[in-house]
Formats: sequence, C-alpha cells, structure tokens
Amino acid sequence: MANAPKIAFSPVTPGKAAGTLVVFCDDRLQFGPPAARALGDAVAVVTRAAKTEHFTGKSGSALEILVPDGLKADRLVVLGAGKAADLKQQDLVKLGGAAMGKLPKAGDAVIVADLPGGEGGMTGAQAADLAQGAMLRAYAFDRYKTRRKPDEAPAGNRTVTIVTADVAGARKAFAEREAIAEGVLMARDLVNEPPNILYPEEFARRTLALKKAGCAVQILNMAALKKLGMGALLGVGQGSTRESRVVVMRWNGGKKGEAPLAFIGKGVCFDTGGISIKPAAGMEDMKGDMAGAACVVGLMQALAARKAKVNAVGVIGLVENMPDGNAQRPGDIVKSMSGQTIEIINTDAEGRLVLGDVLWYTKEKFKPKFMVNLATLTGAIIVALGHEYAGLFSNNDELSERLAKSGEATGEAVWRMPLSPAYDKMIDSRFADMKNTGGSRYGGAITAAQFLQRFVDKTPWAHLDIAGTGMDSRQNEINKSWASGWGVRLLDRLVADYYEG
Ligand code: BES
Ligand code: MN
Ligand code: ZN
Repeated sequence: MANAPKIAFSPVTPGKAAGTLVVFCDDRLQFGPPAARALGDAVAVVTRAAKTEHFTGKSGSALEILVPDGLKADRLVVLGAGKAADLKQQDLVKLGGAAMGKLPKAGDAVIVADLPGGEGGMTGAQAADLAQGAMLRAYAFDRYKTRRKPDEAPAGNRTVTIVTADVAGARKAFAEREAIAEGVLMARDLVNEPPNILYPEEFARRTLALKKAGCAVQILNMAALKKLGMGALLGVGQGSTRESRVVVMRWNGGKKGEAPLAFIGKGVCFDTGGISIKPAAGMEDMKGDMAGAACVVGLMQALAARKAKVNAVGVIGLVENMPDGNAQRPGDIVKSMSGQTIEIINTDAEGRLVLGDVLWYTKEKFKPKFMVNLATLTGAIIVALGHEYAGLFSNNDELSERLAKSGEATGEAVWRMPLSPAYDKMIDSRFADMKNTGGSRYGGAITAAQFLQRFVDKTPWAHLDIAGTGMDSRQNEINKSWASGWGVRLLDRLVADYYEG
C-alpha cells in the first residue's frame, strides 16, 4: 500500500532513535517501566512541561516537546491513554491512530507500546492493534496531486517502530490486522477514485488484484448479464456509454462443500439520477455511490489475505446511471432476473434495481448461509441516522444481533430499522408487480429495503444502508479520508466471531 508507513516491532527503543518518540501515560501522569526506560532522564522535563502546558494526561490529550535534554529523539509526544485495565481493542486501535496523527508528515518514529498499570507493557496483540490504527490513520488519497508540500515525503518512506516486549506475538497478531487494514485501504481507494477513471469495466478490472491473495474472480460481461435476464440492472446502465458488469469473488477457506456466506454490494460508479436527474450541488459526491461494492472487495481481500477459515462469496453490481437518448424513462417497465416486473417511477432510485438482480442471482447460484448487502441506497437514511450509524434492515434476528455486536466491537455501528407488510404495500404498482419508489419521501429508506426484500426469499438477509457512513465520512482518529472504507472491519469481525472454524 503506497501510503502506509512501514511498521516494525522491536523489543527495545532503537539506540539511535531519531525522529519522534511517542509514549503513553495515564491520567495521573504515570508511565510504565518501558516508557520510563525510553524517557530516561527526560522524565523530569516531561513533568515540568506538563505543568506549564496544563497537561494532565486526560485520555485523548497530548503533550508535545521539542528535543528534550538527554533524549536521542528530535521530538517527544506524550499521549494520555486512560487506564490500562479499561482499554478495549477498539480503544487501542484509536490510540494508534491518535499517535500516528501526532507524527510529522515525514520522518521516522518510535511508539512505545506500554501502559501504566499494565503488567510490563502491552501484549503483542495490543501492540498490533496500535499498529493497525496507525496504518488506518496514515492513509491519504493524494495520487492526483502533482505538487507536494516540503514537509510531505511519501508516507511509504517512513518507518514507525513499535516497541513491545512481545515482538513475536505482535508480528503474528499484526499479520491479521494488517490484512484487514489493507482491505479497508483498498475500499477507500476505490471510493475516492474519480468517476472518469473508475467506471464499471475499470472497477471490475481492479478486482482481479484479489487473485494474488487466492480469490477466484469471475467477471460477467454484457452478454452474460443479458443471458441471465438481469433486466433491472441492465436498465440502469443503458443510458451510459460505459458497459455494466457483475463481478463474483470467491474465497474458499472453509470446509469443502459448505454453503458460503454471501456479501453483495451496490456499485453505481456514478449516479447522476438518470432522466430523474439530480441537482448540480454536491453531485460530485455520487462518485462514491459504489461504496457498498468497494466494501465487499476490501472484505474479500481481507478474508483471503488473513486466510479466514470460511467459505465466502462477494458479488457486486457495477453500472453507471446516466441521462441519454437511450436512458431508461420513468414509466418504463423492466423484467428482473427473478421474473418479477418493475415499473420505474424515478430513475434515481437505481440502486435497488441493481441489487434486486444481484441478490436474486446470488441466492439462486450459491444458496448461501446468509446474504449481507451494503449500499449507499438512500438519502433518507442520512436524514434518519446522520453519519454515525448505518441503517440495518433484516429478516433475521440472529444475524441482526450479530451485526450489532460486531458494530459495537469495531466502532462501525449499525441501527436496526423496521420492515413490515404495511411498508411493503407502498411499493405495489398499478401496472407491474412493483414500482421502484414508495410514492412519498416518508420512510424512504424503509420502502427501499422492502424492495430488496422481494428478491431474497427465505434466505437470512441483512441490508446495510451506508449512504451516511461510506462516503463524505466523519473524520476521526483512524480516518482522515473522504471515503472511510466503512464495513470492512465490521463484516470481517462478523465472520471471525461467528462463522470461522
Ligand atoms: N445514491 C443515492 C442515495 C444517496 C444520497 C447516497 C446521498 C449518498 C448520499 C440513491 O441512488 C438515490 O438517489 N436515492 C434517492 C431515492 C429516491 C429517488 C426515492 C434518494 O435518496 O433521494
Ligand atoms: Mn440515485
Ligand atoms: Zn444511487
């Protein structure tokens, strides 16, 4: 990954620790033995600086000192971390991100993985959590910038050394966490790419990179999609000069013949709205309307790279929604692969058309244990939940519970929304089996979900509406990117905690 710093683990603070030294303290300004050792005589300087700067070691606060006497580092950063005993995995990931955020854009750094009150420093796994947070934080999408500020060396040129007593344990744990982080960064890259570069065919081409990790990748072209009868998906793409594609990615790390877990993504590479065209303001954001598909790609990459003991299939529908002489019209009736007919009311409600066909195809072809789909499906979910939680809709309580738990563990939170026959009725059509909008703005995220449910039958299924979380993302300790790569960590966790082994 071009943007990630090199991460190294070491049992001792490197002798010639040039660059920045990061240590953690608790809210009584106490250091553990490893940090105290790294600081040496500089502890007195820290205590003095803390007084003048009113730094109390409160969790999340930082004290930065230039060249303290007796230290080989150029800069020293002290980060308040809270109590060792209280720290959950997600807190350590965030802490690693916060530490990375305190490093200058260029130059090496040493982070001492130690917490006061802990038994002789952090465990190897905790050091690896820090490292994952640092990786996620360091990501920047700058490949289209031709000028760099003088202090901005490419991030790949710097090394962040994490000091831990358990180097072997840290390296082992990091192999997994790195695979997951790389999946997140891959998803972010795809979502951040401009739509003139990343159109359906090019998106499909990029998924071929997953073969290196051991995934089987199959690209369905126009002829194949027509043959399958995906009239709903193809209708969305017919106004574009770019051809539509469906990509199937398979990872078989589980028992032979066991039904796979299925992950499905909306991949609208650009959503103009089509003939029901969107307003100009903010339309550029619709390059991110493939965040669901990007997450599925990143997840499959992560599962394969960490050799997850599970069978999984990722299926993404890739189209571009454009207005044109050949574009789909409001009033058109299309036939989906399921055989059900759909009256198009609004060509901007295109995601459900794409997903309807891809969900049906996945169910028929793979008979999966469950299907989870991700989609930047509705503006209405942003009205309901803002940018913090993704909307969860499901026909299965167990799957919903597991997703909610995984959300809590990773910080990629989901909130369950209702489905019911009363909402389902709202998409009945006068002329066809159903229509593609609910007819009113109210409950817009729910009527969209009801539409999807008509394509899943009895298969346990969950739909994550990530319009608020997958793009134009909130900035935090581990994400400074427009595209968060939301969902990769959540679903990797779901797989790891409930379906592996
Ligand atoms: N891709 C949009 C939803 C969206 C909006 C994602 C804002 C991210 C940010 C989707 O295709 C769409 O246009 N939905 C319409 C549905 C409506 C026409 C029923 C919407 O939400 O307005
Ligand atoms: Mn749309
Ligand atoms: Zn869309």
